[in-house]
Amino acid sequence: MAFLNLEAAYKHGIAHNVEEQTIVSLEKRLEQEYSNLDFLNFNYMSELEKKIETASQIQERYKNMLVLGIGGSALGAKALQKAFFPFQDLPNYKEKSLYILDNINPKLMQAYLEKLNPKDTVVVVISKSGSTIETISQYFLAKKWLKDNLPVEYKEHIWIITDPVKGFLRNEVEKYGFFSFDVPPNLGGRFSVLSAVGLVPLNFLGLNWKELVKGAKSVANFGSLASHPAFLLAKWAFNLMQVKTELIFFNYLVGWDFLGDWFAQLWAESLGKDNKGSMPIPAVGVRDQHSLLQMFMQGQNNKGCLFLKFRKISSNIVLDFDLPEQWDFLQGKGLAEIFQAECLGTLMALSSRMPLVEIELEGPTELEAGKIIMLLEFATLLTGWLLQINPLNQPGVEKSKRLAKAKLGAKGFENENKELESFLSK
Ligand code: PA5
Repeated sequence: MAFLNLEAAYKHGIAHNVEEQTIVSLEKRLEQEYSNLDFLNFNYMSELEKKIETASQIQERYKNMLVLGIGGSALGAKALQKAFFPFQDLPNYKEKSLYILDNINPKLMQAYLEKLNPKDTVVVVISKSGSTIETISQYFLAKKWLKDNLPVEYKEHIWIITDPVKGFLRNEVEKYGFFSFDVPPNLGGRFSVLSAVGLVPLNFLGLNWKELVKGAKSVANFGSLASHPAFLLAKWAFNLMQVKTELIFFNYLVGWDFLGDWFAQLWAESLGKDNKGSMPIPAVGVRDQHSLLQMFMQGQNNKGCLFLKFRKISSNIVLDFDLPEQWDFLQGKGLAEIFQAECLGTLMALSSRMPLVEIELEGPTELEAGKIIMLLEFATLLTGWLLQINPLNQPGVEKSKRLAKAKLGAKGFENENKELESFLSK
């Protein structure tokens, strides 16, 4: 299980008791809601496993996968792609390539459609609701591109991952017969990386996703909540929010740089409600020692820190040759050793300044990735419950979507049209 060191967490005077009664009521609630918490119970997994086997056979013929999705429909796969397959950008890369277009980027979309060979490409459209404007508009473009280039077989080049019964994309599946996967109705976007949403793209690259799931299940397995790391983390984060407004996610999981972006969405979209929550700040070690760290150490004292590291990292790349005199202390040292020394220095410096929880993973394996994903998801849920907000919805992101739709001329947005008029006339 992911190792959680709370030693430095409480020495900065944050209260650390959650009443026994609260723990009991959380346990009860978990028991009651468990069957609906798909990210914890994995009810969908045996069905999905079969579907992924079929996908593995079909995908043999493709060199590229272009994923269209946004938010929870992209960030998890992107984080794990960057962690386990960072070599796509190296010269002469010959393996399968995964491109995740998780933003509206007109130039990039155009470039993909110009540069990718449609014959070698499968486009995977991921949207749980099936109605996200960014994803759907890109879907239309990709479908046209495929249809223009491959009029006979274009339908085979589109896979859809969406709600099992409703939404525009599900209708498209029914209409065109696209190969499709279900997003279980009870699985929210930002909790969905271990469903088809994340696993289909990662399976394309050959990730050992079964290990990922195994790691996650080992953390999702709980008896008494009081000593479970997810609860301990939630309790700490909840207490921290009473006195600090920001939560640094300082990530020294070398190479897993994008995990913080995934976490920031999970934390912010789940917990930023009713004027509660803490602002997640993803930072990447060693890199951000040379930028954000100054603010962390001497800026406003309103932060706590989740500090993530591997117990051990190894590499064969060593400075095992003569060095100029002032650098000779580096002789015989590997880059891994230098990285870990920087990591220790920052850990010590930060824990002298703020409440800090250290999370140590064994090493960069799929199993450990599954553990940390589940630990953070589960802790987010419990923190939300402690805050007495609903961590599984996101009403605050709706307003801007409605205004954008009104601006684009969609029907049924009369109020938003009035708001727009008044805003734009100022
Ligand atoms: O976590 C969430 O629910 C959101 O970030 C969604 O994943 C995001 O808005 C995309 O939604 P959809 O998958 O419906 O296109």
